[in-house]
Amino acid sequence: MTRKKIIIGNWKMHKAFSQALNDFVTITEQLSCASEAKRIDFDSNKLEIGIAAPSLYLSELSLRCNNIIKIFSQNCHWESEGAFTGEISTLMLKSVRVSGSLVGHSERRLFCGETDTTAGKRLGALLKSGLKAVLCVGENLVQREKETHTQAVQAQILTALQASQIQQSFEFLGSDPQSPLFAIAYEPIWAIGTGKTASHQDIESMHAFISEVLQNALSHNLAAKIPILYGGSVKPTNSKEILSLTHVDGALVGGASLVPDDFLQLILSSSAKNS
Ligand code: PGA
Repeated sequence: MTRKKIIIGNWKMHKAFSQALNDFVTITEQLSCASEAKRIDFDSNKLEIGIAAPSLYLSELSLRCNNIIKIFSQNCHWESEGAFTGEISTLMLKSVRVSGSLVGHSERRLFCGETDTTAGKRLGALLKSGLKAVLCVGENLVQREKETHTQAVQAQILTALQASQIQQSFEFLGSDPQSPLFAIAYEPIWAIGTGKTASHQDIESMHAFISEVLQNALSHNLAAKIPILYGGSVKPTNSKEILSLTHVDGALVGGASLVPDDFLQLILSSSAKNS
């Protein structure tokens, strides 16, 4: 059976509100037309589309998602409420019908003091609230050149899993067997926003390695159900090939998700193989 493909756009800190709304409406309308014309298939669980939007826009976008696009936050605190100025919580995300959040994106690690432990605490809070969590991991250029990239990624995953204090399979999976709550996005830092993508061989071997790390940390059965996405300069011109690689269950897309036509083209070209 073909595994479901998950494509999530990460808008980062882009777009004023009117632009975000217009682009979002364009994307949902076009996807809805493509679905009606049977160019893509949302019904038989082959494809899941998400957009991780700036937190200020989450509530408006979730009103307009038409069940076609899942709305994600780009971050989420581990406490459900309290004196944490500038943060948003799972309680808030749920109250505006957001599906989940990215966790531990490399830009938050680089610019906002995110660590493997804090990423893990956010992960735990999301999963315990029944929200989706996409844990972002990936090595920097020095680690890749010193060939310590696998150890780096393994440490990121294991520390986050431990800090999440999640142990039960159902907490990772949630109630919908077709759409597990927990996913990992492998994003080599040197490939993010640089136009460089990892080679197909590098992507396949890292995804296989991540799957092995999950099998050892959790169980074989549970690990097999956890999607592993690739991120780092995924574009309409390379997405189809990347998404057809072994162990690649989807893509986390930054720059190419900002222009609706590019994002739509990327989705349509990548999902054509599933039809
Ligand atoms: P990019 O960003 O597609 O622009 O490389 C990916 C990401 O940061 O998630």
